[in-house]
Amino acid sequence: MDFKLTEEQLAVQEAARDFAQTELLPGVIERDEKQQFPHEQVKKMAELGFMGMMVSPEYGGGGMDTVSYVLAMAEISKVDASAGVIMSVNNSLVCWGLEKYGNEEQKQKYLTKLAVGEVIGAFCLSEPEAGSDATAQHTTAIEKDDHYLLNGTKNWITNGKNASYYIVFAQTDVSKGHKGINAFIVEQAWDGVQVGPKEQKLGIRGSDTHSIMFTDVKVPKENRLGEDGFGFKLAMMILEGGRIGIASQALGIAMGAYERALQYSKERKAFGKEISKHQAIAFKLADMETEISAAKWLCIKAAWQKDTDQSYTMGSAMAKLYASKVAMNVAIEAVQVHGGYGFVKEFHVERLMRDAKITQIYEGTSEIQQLVIARGVLE
Ligand code: CAA
Repeated sequence: MDFKLTEEQLAVQEAARDFAQTELLPGVIERDEKQQFPHEQVKKMAELGFMGMMVSPEYGGGGMDTVSYVLAMAEISKVDASAGVIMSVNNSLVCWGLEKYGNEEQKQKYLTKLAVGEVIGAFCLSEPEAGSDATAQHTTAIEKDDHYLLNGTKNWITNGKNASYYIVFAQTDVSKGHKGINAFIVEQAWDGVQVGPKEQKLGIRGSDTHSIMFTDVKVPKENRLGEDGFGFKLAMMILEGGRIGIASQALGIAMGAYERALQYSKERKAFGKEISKHQAIAFKLADMETEISAAKWLCIKAAWQKDTDQSYTMGSAMAKLYASKVAMNVAIEAVQVHGGYGFVKEFHVERLMRDAKITQIYEGTSEIQQLVIARGVLE
């Protein structure tokens, strides 16, 4: 067994780290405060190949492995978790499904633009009454002549306003339950697509989250993704990879909070010595380092399973369940280590604590991950 990263993986990690420090760190507090989308930074992420990392070079992607994706996601999220989710949605939830199940025309028309980050995409599965219970879709796509007529509302859509293309899930035949769900590529510019107001969020405030309304949108038949009735399974398969991305985002948040706590504890003095020399703080640091290390290897293991064509259903759920718990614990402890300074914006850890919470909610709550893992254990 070899725990060493390859030269290529280390180079990707370093490039992501440099980019995060030089391009994301300046302005991250302000973007959080003003809920500002990082337009310029996403453009630079695209130039560096981070928006379509795992897509084949044939379609403009970086042709990198999932382990490299984990490393880049963590470095970026360590500094700006909002940039992390924008990148994760484009890579995992949009590009992956298109490359794996799109036909050649769809790949040429849509994937080639998404993979180079010329445009970004969004994944429209959740609805006002269908979050964890993803089969309870109310959005319909009724077949008519050469198109489907799409009607319904999608909620909590990351990249909602800034995405040019959406992958939208809808019922084409309600009587068939989940087997009547299909996935469609929908362009934001089409008639009948309306972007709702921006959600006012606790964390990842630099990313844009919106409801998207579809009213009599004519979706050409050639924009259905995959075989008829394949939509629900496709959503589940896409989310398995997505969970590796969010687990890596959580890992990055934990790393960011820990590094700041470690640094602060070596500088701040109390009762005659650096606070890191007090066991109360040293033991916290020891726990953080241990938890982060375990979360990192769960993320890398899930990525390796995906790269080597093994099942990663349980691996990705375990990585996400554990890394998101670690992100929350570590960020709370990092605020505690900072004392009063942890409660103010310029020390960054309060933002990381707010950002951590969403990793236990989106792309399947912690309870959904437990359900997936329990099914695997008991089958
Ligand atoms: N791969 C392939 N097929 C799968 C699958 C998988 N991982 N999981 C389920 N399926 C298939 C099953 O085999 C079954 O097919 P058959 O009937 O042919 O056997 C079918 O899908 C239905 O499966 P279940 O009966 O297991 O479905 P369920 O209703 O019990 O749901 C669930 C399972 C795990 C709870 C699922 O609904 C789920 O993952 N829910 C969470 C949804 C979620 O993560 N939403 C996040 C929204 S996206 C987001 O947050 C994006 C963002 O903007 C950041």
